[in-house]
Amino acid sequence: MPIGVRFRNLRIFFSFVSLILEELLIRTYKLCLLGVGNVNRTLLRLLRSREQELREQYGIAWKITGVASRRLGWIANGEGLPTLPAADGSAFEDNGSKLNGVREWLRAAEADVLFEATSLNVENGQPAIEHIRSALECGAHAITANKGPIVFAYDELRDLAAAQGKRFLFESTVMDGAPIFSLFREHLPTVHLRGFRGILNSTTNLILSGMEEGLSFEQALQKAQNIGVAETDASHDIDGWDAAVKVAALVTVLMGVRLRPGDVDREGIRGLTAEAVFTARAAGTPYKLVCHAKRTTGGISATVGPEQVPLSDPLAWVAGTSSIVCFETDMFPGLIIREDNPGLDTTAYGMLADFMKAVSYKGSEQ
Ligand SMILES: NC(=O)c1ccc[n+]([C@@H]2O[C@H](COP(=O)([O-])OP(=O)(O)OC[C@H]3O[C@@H](n4cnc5c(N)ncnc54)[C@H](OP(=O)(O)O)[C@@H]3O)[C@@H](O)[C@H]2O)c1
Repeated sequence: MPIGVRFRNLRIFFSFVSLILEELLIRTYKLCLLGVGNVNRTLLRLLRSREQELREQYGIAWKITGVASRRLGWIANGEGLPTLPAADGSAFEDNGSKLNGVREWLRAAEADVLFEATSLNVENGQPAIEHIRSALECGAHAITANKGPIVFAYDELRDLAAAQGKRFLFESTVMDGAPIFSLFREHLPTVHLRGFRGILNSTTNLILSGMEEGLSFEQALQKAQNIGVAETDASHDIDGWDAAVKVAALVTVLMGVRLRPGDVDREGIRGLTAEAVFTARAAGTPYKLVCHAKRTTGGISATVGPEQVPLSDPLAWVAGTSSIVCFETDMFPGLIIREDNPGLDTTAYGMLADFMKAVSYKGSEQ
């Protein structure tokens, strides 16, 4: 055989072997989406758009094997459910079996990872806590954007995940997926958090920005609703509850002290008139809905309330849907994370990043 032909055959042989090796190194994960609203739909789009990169650069492939919501019920197919071009409820229903509850659903879907993105229950965090508990007990990693499980059951779920050798991750619960929890967990070992202050609620910050531009409270709220930032019933944001829940989540996870939203001394922005907000900005001391938490000798002092801040304060320059948190630690007297104009993609990215961390987990740290 001529030498050129032999080389060509060898080249073909080696590229064939490397293709097989590459395929062997790729692991396919079965994913379950609980809640098919804004967050999980955006996550699904993001997973699709990153599919090739995940496969080629990280050896991660995926298929959706379970989808569930109040309206859809529990739908599973261990072989995979359709996700293209834009799967809707009927596409899922036509291709999967209807199950009777979360555990049966997770088993039928052979779940490797649960993405929990159901609505927040501010009273007790249920049924999201039960969803995550079930996933971990069924041997799946649990990833959530829902703050309820953090403020009502963090210790239990963290310990359960560790006992099961799985991960319970929740980067998207505060500041839409900006790396806060992972920053402390992965990059700041033995650093002690003394306290923090920040702006953590987009709706109220956007309303205050609108009032600074001369809108009335109602007009500014309407504007926030029109662009999909504020819900139809925005009282949860306006009265400071959303900010209080986020403070409770940060204190519970990062400061190691269990704090419930009701323990946060809370005031919303209802008491502020448009004139007061407009005048305060013109005078160089704008109003912000400021969150505070500080370690005290007796435990934690935590507040949410409107405050006038000077222009020299980084909080003064955080406008619209942006947010900021300034940490005070024993090693870094001031460490700031500021996030400008996050969107649903940012939240979904936090879940995608958690997914990649979970599946590369070798077991030890939580
Ligand atoms: N949107 C954001 O920008 C954002 C950012 C960070 C975190 N989060 C958090 O992420 C979660 C999801 O937000 P979202 O905007 O995607 O909400 P959404 O659009 O209202 O969707 C919520 C989904 O959860 C389902 N659901 C609610 N309660 C359920 C239950 N008890 N059992 C089964 N399914 C249930 C709903 O089903 P039905 O429609 O059938 O009722 C719906 O599919 C919330 O906890 C939210 O606080 C949201």
